[in-house]
Amino acid sequence: MPDPSPVIELEGVGKTYVSGAVETPVLFDVSFRIHSGEFAAVVGGSGSGKTTLLNLMGLLDRPTRGRVCVQGAEAGQLPEQERARVRRDRIGFIFQFHYLLPEFTVLENALMPCRMRGIRWQAQQVERMRALLDLVGLADKLDARPSQLSGGQQQRVAVVRALANEPALVLADEPTGNLDSKSGRVVFDLMRSLSRESGTAFVMVTHDENFALETDRVIRIRDGHIVSSLPNG
Ligand SMILES: Nc1ncnc2c1ncn2[C@@H]1O[C@H](COP(=O)(O)OP(=O)(O)OP(=O)(O)O)[C@@H](O)[C@H]1O
Ligand SMILES: [Mg+2]
Repeated sequence: MPDPSPVIELEGVGKTYVSGAVETPVLFDVSFRIHSGEFAAVVGGSGSGKTTLLNLMGLLDRPTRGRVCVQGAEAGQLPEQERARVRRDRIGFIFQFHYLLPEFTVLENALMPCRMRGIRWQAQQVERMRALLDLVGLADKLDARPSQLSGGQQQRVAVVRALANEPALVLADEPTGNLDSKSGRVVFDLMRSLSRESGTAFVMVTHDENFALETDRVIRIRDGHIVSSLPNG
């Protein structure tokens, strides 16, 4: 059966950080594909290169060698402005710390990526974000400020915000790393079901082996090398 076109494909990707005369090679010959609707975990020790890998997938940084293709087109080496456009329109981000803006409400925070597109948010987007916030159990918090929410609730807002521009891919760097196990479970289950419902691909860095084993694919990384990237089950 032909492989359907992947949401993102890395081919022979390497990354070496250069600072003055010091070169730090961090990623070596990384290749894998993530398809629409797939939920993948990236697992590896501290310093193994997980955040570096996510930054390359999210077009926040350029690979030293190799190709990063988003929906079939090379994007890793595009000029910064064009990479920013692909990033804004097709990729959502969730970080370990939520980075919600304290002076805006929950609903406004969730809508922020729409505003960054340069268009004022539209009624349809507001309705969609309301519905998503309702789905993650925050219907009564739309007008609250982030400081009035628990850590788990804040992270649920960050998950909804990542979906604001209906991205093809969401990248999450230890999204449950700062949460107690119960809130972490709620956030993980939400990402899982949102991914299933929307067909959005998710790639999540996690140290939690239990979460990793519940995803579709575990990408294991050691000292900058992918040691396996097999589907689960
Ligand atoms: N801008 C940079 N310049 C030089 N070296 C860097 C830079 N960013 C990261 N590194 C190095 O690259 C290696 C991988 O870092 P990275 O942040 O990708 O690891 P990680 O797997 O995300 O670790 P953690 O689990 O602790 O978050 C580390 O040795 C780190 O010191
Ligand atoms: Mg990291």
